[in-house]
Amino acid sequence: MSRLQAEHLYKVFGRRPIDAVEKLRHGADREELRADGTTAAVIDASFEVEPGQIFVVMGLSGSGKSTLLRMLNGLSEPTAGHVRFDGQDLTRLSAREMREVRSKKISMVFQHFALFPHRSVLENAGYGLEVQGVPRAEREKRATEALELAGLKGWEKSWPDELSGGMQQRVGLARALATDADLLLMDESFSALDPLIRRDMQDQLLELQKRLKKTIVFITHDLNEAMRLGDQIAVMRDGRIVQIGNAEDILVTPANDYVAAFTQDVDRSRVLTAGAIMAEPESGFVRADAPATVTEDTPIIELFTPCSTSVVPVAVTDADGKLVGVVPRARLLAVLGEPMAPEDASQESKKVVSGA
Ligand SMILES: Nc1ncnc2c1ncn2[C@@H]1O[C@H](COP(=O)(O)OP(=O)(O)OP(=O)(O)O)[C@@H](O)[C@H]1O
Ligand SMILES: [Mg+2]
Repeated sequence: MSRLQAEHLYKVFGRRPIDAVEKLRHGADREELRADGTTAAVIDASFEVEPGQIFVVMGLSGSGKSTLLRMLNGLSEPTAGHVRFDGQDLTRLSAREMREVRSKKISMVFQHFALFPHRSVLENAGYGLEVQGVPRAEREKRATEALELAGLKGWEKSWPDELSGGMQQRVGLARALATDADLLLMDESFSALDPLIRRDMQDQLLELQKRLKKTIVFITHDLNEAMRLGDQIAVMRDGRIVQIGNAEDILVTPANDYVAAFTQDVDRSRVLTAGAIMAEPESGFVRADAPATVTEDTPIIELFTPCSTSVVPVAVTDADGKLVGVVPRARLLAVLGEPMAPEDASQESKKVVSGA
């Protein structure tokens, strides 16, 4: 089972880090430590990611996201705490064992992906395999498949400078996919892209994830991206994870004002989906009476009209058409606040958050 577990992770930079962890455990905060000349980059971070899940980490600059990610693949040794992946405690491995795990089981995709300009797209995609010592024929086969997965079929022989920024980023993704790693770590991987291309990449990642079911940790500054991609979203502030939840939890029940402030500009009628807010159908529910049938990924903005014309809940199905839940009008209104026309939805969402 390729489950990822972070247990009480700490990373302190500076003098006497172990002492600093003790102080943090006894309630000291980041500011106090800074006075001693140490930086508590990550403080007591714990979470679990199941295979097939995308775990998003978001937070302001300096909140500790990248440091957390680097501890997950052993690039940075935790000052305290454990990382377990695939049943192995990565924090107990020797440097050599860790390198082995990193090259076989973990892939990283960065914000600015450095492609080798003098190598073809195919060679670039196969680079991770080359590092692993995979023979050329096998490498080219797997890199070709990965490029196809990343939507770059037909570009194998091109040079990086013939590709747009978005396509170059796809080569980065293909490089990570080609290694067959079960754990993908993505640090602001789409942040440098234009909004439209970025959305496209998000769709592509979600599509890939449906098939490949990797364990993914994805860092972003962008709340909309977090909401689209994250099965779970962790919000970090000053080194601590202040809330972990799905998009609905973060929007509807923010843990504190910091999280609420983050979400205040989000249009929840477009972010929340039928699948996120649906309830169990009651025993008397007859699907044929529903005013509409939608799939789980339908934004709830599309439920306003059917919900306002019928007292029977909207039916929600999975991609195969199987009934998985219902959205009664009361549920929709509870999530949004009060009755409204769709064009009022974003105004309304602000009111809900500031009143929370
Ligand atoms: N090698 C290091 N030595 C000392 N301090 C560090 C080191 N790496 C990170 N830090 C500090 O740790 C804190 C967290 O940094 P980190 O890069 O993890 O934040 P981040 O959330 O990824 O920020 P950004 O969104 O800007 O990428 C910052 O205060 C940073 O200055
Ligand atoms: Mg960072």
